[in-house]
Amino acid sequence: MNAASAPTAARLAEEFATTFGYSPQACFRAPGRVNLIGEHTDYNNGLVLPIAIDRAVHVAIGRRPQDRRVDEEQDRPATAAPPRSPQSIRIVSDHRDDSGERLSGQFTAAELVPGQMRGWLSHPAGVVDEIAKTTGTMVGGVDLYVESTVPVGAGLSSSHALEVAVLIALDEVFDLGLNDREKVLLTQRAENDFVGAPTGIVDQAASIMTEAGHALFLDCRDLRTRQIPFDLDAEGLRLLVIDTRVSHSHSESGYGDRRRSCEEAAGIFGVESLRELDEAVDLGPLTDEQRKRVRHVFNENARVRTTVDHLEGSGGQAGHRIRGIAELLLASHASLAEDYEVSCPELDTAVEAAMEAGAIGARMIGGGFGGSAIALIDAADADRVGDAVIAAFAARGYRTPDVFAVSAGTGASRID
Ligand code: GLA
Repeated sequence: MNAASAPTAARLAEEFATTFGYSPQACFRAPGRVNLIGEHTDYNNGLVLPIAIDRAVHVAIGRRPQDRRVDEEQDRPATAAPPRSPQSIRIVSDHRDDSGERLSGQFTAAELVPGQMRGWLSHPAGVVDEIAKTTGTMVGGVDLYVESTVPVGAGLSSSHALEVAVLIALDEVFDLGLNDREKVLLTQRAENDFVGAPTGIVDQAASIMTEAGHALFLDCRDLRTRQIPFDLDAEGLRLLVIDTRVSHSHSESGYGDRRRSCEEAAGIFGVESLRELDEAVDLGPLTDEQRKRVRHVFNENARVRTTVDHLEGSGGQAGHRIRGIAELLLASHASLAEDYEVSCPELDTAVEAAMEAGAIGARMIGGGFGGSAIALIDAADADRVGDAVIAAFAARGYRTPDVFAVSAGTGASRID
């Protein structure tokens, strides 16, 4: 699975037609993300700086013609599609289950109940439920074929990318007219209220709002954005993702506890979020644990600002914009490990082994407790660093990590 194998619109249309027996109306893609810095700040109304990566969820979508048996009308019969009821939304994916069957499912907007559905289908179902609640449109009678190059469970937001791809596809064929901001907030509600994961907005925003070759500087308090140039090639650099293959779940891990701790700390000072708290405040009234969490959030917001200064050229030497952020990445990792306590032995090993092998900066990304780390390296060191990380994992008896390079891709769009 690599970026080069991204399907074309023509191939998606072909797969859709083979699956459902008629031609789709349009194809879309929504990328996964790597957050450069600004971790566990989004739900604290703080600052984040993700890139959209060059791996994406791709969908082909078609509204079933109303008055005909589409399966019979065309020469080729539909294959692998679940039986349909008139208002159902059918989804077929190229991913396969343990028995080799393609993952597929169907539901109607009317039957959806928040919190009742589990697994991958809950993400598109959450989007459909939120579309009904937000716009009053009960989408139905529609088919989606999905292909993804975002590794699942690696902490690169494969499920958020799926939500975004499904939303922009439904937005177009049902003429919902949602703007980017509304799309970000709608997919967040799908995740929070329907799926039951109390996540923030960095992942969806990265997928929807990022421009090619840029990182997205996002203020999660008001969703104001600035596109920040991020050109690895210009500095002879690569960004490696090290997927520890330790799985994590934001509905079940300590993610919710961290969020609660921050909200309780804000509540003690009578403010809505930690962003509204004066950073000079005396943290005396908090527990030791709350103090550590708050310290991470304050320092991480500051690191995002300094990172942006470097990347925009006001914080370092010309030609060293990205190189200038290496120390900030390391400081972010230390803070996530020690103050926020969301790292794990595999993530720490990834960072340490990459640094020992010559990386210039590294840190865990995402919610933590598993998932991926990133390492910023000189292009010439890619193999050496990758091999060293794999060897370090083997020496400690961990599963072999998946190591691959990513670059700053472009935000979600229609593909023709
Ligand atoms: C996960 C969540 C995001 C964010 C990060 C931590 O990726 O989905 O909203 O909170 O963790 O920064």
